[in-house]
Amino acid sequence: MIELFSRWRKKAEFVPNSKPKYTNKPLVGKKGSLFDDAEIIGFEDVKNLFYMAINADKPIHFLLVGPPASGKSLFMSCLASRLDRSYYAVGSSSTKSGIFDYLFEHRPRYLIIDEIEKMNKIDQTSLLNLMESGIISELKHRQQRSTQLKTWVFASCNGTNKLLQPLLTRFQPIHFNPYTEDEFVDIAVKLLDKEEGIDSDIAAIIAKEVFNKFKTANIRECVRIARLTKNDISKVQLIIDTFKKYAA
Ligand SMILES: Nc1ncnc2c1ncn2[C@@H]1O[C@H](COP(=O)(O)OP(=O)(O)OP(=O)(O)O)[C@@H](O)[C@H]1O
Ligand SMILES: [Mg+2]
Repeated sequence: MIELFSRWRKKAEFVPNSKPKYTNKPLVGKKGSLFDDAEIIGFEDVKNLFYMAINADKPIHFLLVGPPASGKSLFMSCLASRLDRSYYAVGSSSTKSGIFDYLFEHRPRYLIIDEIEKMNKIDQTSLLNLMESGIISELKHRQQRSTQLKTWVFASCNGTNKLLQPLLTRFQPIHFNPYTEDEFVDIAVKLLDKEEGIDSDIAAIIAKEVFNKFKTANIRECVRIARLTKNDISKVQLIIDTFKKYAA
């Protein structure tokens, strides 16, 4: 998963998923095939919304909005890797030209844009017609080209204040609240077991300490501590105290 993630992050523009694992058609009624419950913990209602969206006859666009480490990119990556004819982009490295070249050439059914608030205003504007009517047109090399697409846009951002208002209104926003302590511990324990091989009692201590001492629901902090402990419970407190001492 992490390897897959870093591969996507390096892509500068829209890049086709070379080996889509699933087509969108067999997904109807088969929940397990789009989101692996062990991969995204919780959010059953949001997962359901995505199933309904991809089974809708016409496009509907979702925007996940939430604090850091709340699972937004995880949703984007699952969708990108499992939906056939999907294209993944990171907002900071996406331009109108890159987007349009891809749209014209590949006619994606799903456009997945992580950190969409990092797209500049001109590039954001280029999505308006696509999302409203599916019609896109542009002047390229002195030639006008236009086409009609049927494309769902799924995107994520930390906040909406950098998004154009017309773009925002084309999305159904889905706001992720920061995790509660119980949710955070549950996710951290499962993630540290699966990805880092950390015993659940050690993972639970790490998660509770991070939540209560660092006052943050940042799972990335748990991962860092877990890696340093190498599953040795006696190291946990020392690492946390040292992190705390040198925290800003
Ligand atoms: N509900 C969850 N289930 C499983 N893992 C989760 C969940 N929420 C967060 N994580 C884990 O926390 C880490 C951060 O998640 P992710 O990258 O999706 O956050 P994000 O919301 O995109 O954050 P940012 O705004 O900083 O980009 C990842 O390792 C991810 O696997
Ligand atoms: Mg993210």
